[in-house]
Amino acid sequence: MGTHKSDSQQARPPLWLPCAIAVATYLVLHFSEPVGPRKSPTAANRAILLVGFGLVWSCFAALWTQTAAAAASGFSETPDPVSILPQARAILTSSAVYFASLITSVICYRISPLHPLAGVPGPFWYKTSKLFGAWIAWKGKTHLLSKKWHDTYGPIVRTGPNEISILDAEAIPAVLGTGGLSKGQFYDGRWDPNAPAGSLLILKDEDHASRRRLWTRGMSSQALKEYEGFIGNRANILIEKLEAMAGAGSSVDIAEWISYFTFDFMGDMAFGFDFEFLRNAGDKDGLLGAMRRFAIAVQVVCHIPWVATYANKIPMFGRDMQILRAFGVGAATRRVKVGASSKDLWYHLTDEAGFEKSKPSIASVVADGTLAIVAGADTTVSALSSLFYFLLSDPTCYKRLQQEVDAVYPPGSDPLDVSKHAELVFMNGCLNEALRLQPASSDQWSSSGPC
Ligand code: HEM
Repeated sequence: MGTHKSDSQQARPPLWLPCAIAVATYLVLHFSEPVGPRKSPTAANRAILLVGFGLVWSCFAALWTQTAAAAASGFSETPDPVSILPQARAILTSSAVYFASLITSVICYRISPLHPLAGVPGPFWYKTSKLFGAWIAWKGKTHLLSKKWHDTYGPIVRTGPNEISILDAEAIPAVLGTGGLSKGQFYDGRWDPNAPAGSLLILKDEDHASRRRLWTRGMSSQALKEYEGFIGNRANILIEKLEAMAGAGSSVDIAEWISYFTFDFMGDMAFGFDFEFLRNAGDKDGLLGAMRRFAIAVQVVCHIPWVATYANKIPMFGRDMQILRAFGVGAATRRVKVGASSKDLWYHLTDEAGFEKSKPSIASVVADGTLAIVAGADTTVSALSSLFYFLLSDPTCYKRLQQEVDAVYPPGSDPLDVSKHAELVFMNGCLNEALRLQPASSDQWSSSGPC
């Protein structure tokens, strides 16, 4: 009995070995990590290395067991089919010990006083892994939890292993402003690895600044004036549709119709492209659904951005991104074929006026055109839907707004005359309040600095 126990002990590697290898691997990778803003592909490669070492170690453990068993039998016995069991057991035990040691050492470091953010208060488990943040984002509760944490821990809270949340308006210029910190890893989760170019939103530093010049021209007050005609046309179609539905006594999902209106407008503005949501009273290409699903997926993946590098390569995960890209390419192709009917956003982003030394690539303009629709439409839909929700819930405000609009635009005046917008003081207040109560973009906009 005693001899048998000693044989089986010799037949597998000692358990301290995978434990030591896991801790050593983590230390080597941790201390060789570049300082400062990290690149997600680097993080992804490191994660793969850690898992890879685990698998290599498991194979080594199996080999060790086999060699030890063969040595014990004097290398003379014919292979016994049952003898695979000790190897399987060795693989399982070794990998379990390796990964358990790895996870434990990562957690121990993250909660230890050695971590640079050790002095920042925050919820315990969130300090250990971003997986918790991803789960809360999936549930759509990030904003609620953020509030709770700031109520509990104060204006600066550690919300992830290498992440802090700051609730202080005075910090905005230093963190998010021009000349502030660089964009954080949060943006890396939005990279489409198959797209030939990234959009303005994910570009950082110099690349961002030079692309931003084109956008600044495209969003100047002169450019906005050019877009006003698009809004007028679309508003007229929306009113026609709403009046027809009101006349027929049918109920209306106003948020859905605001979506059709806004997306049609953004199509006009970005590419001179008619999505025909309003005319078709629906979304025949499934674009809205793809955008909404994409928005949720992005919120989750942005917590572990390196996952996106690989997840987007899996057809099922990348499907919505493919729909959006195909739509952007389709709209751009049509815009190139049909040409400009007015100075739309495409005109500015392709630098048709010739201000730049070199022309921007078509791939970058397609990426930015698609961004305009996603960033501009979704936020505007949310802002207008909230506005209508609050107004319809409060008849006093509704009446007061109606009186103001009737006074500024009496019967017979042009309802699309934007020169009177400054007189709509209460309307402006309602919009600001709706945005305050229900922010149109509740994303976390992160910046990154050395730590
Ligand atoms: C209620 C309406 C809107 C809200 C609340 C909103 C909010 C935001 C926020 C919070 C950001 C993130 C800034 C950052 O990460 O640095 C952003 C970026 C952006 N938004 Fe909007 N937005 C709105 C409408 C629009 C419209 C109509 C457009 C038109 C095309 C637009 C285009 C963009 C672009 C291109 C960016 C990226 C800017 C950059 O990286 O420099 N947004 N928006």
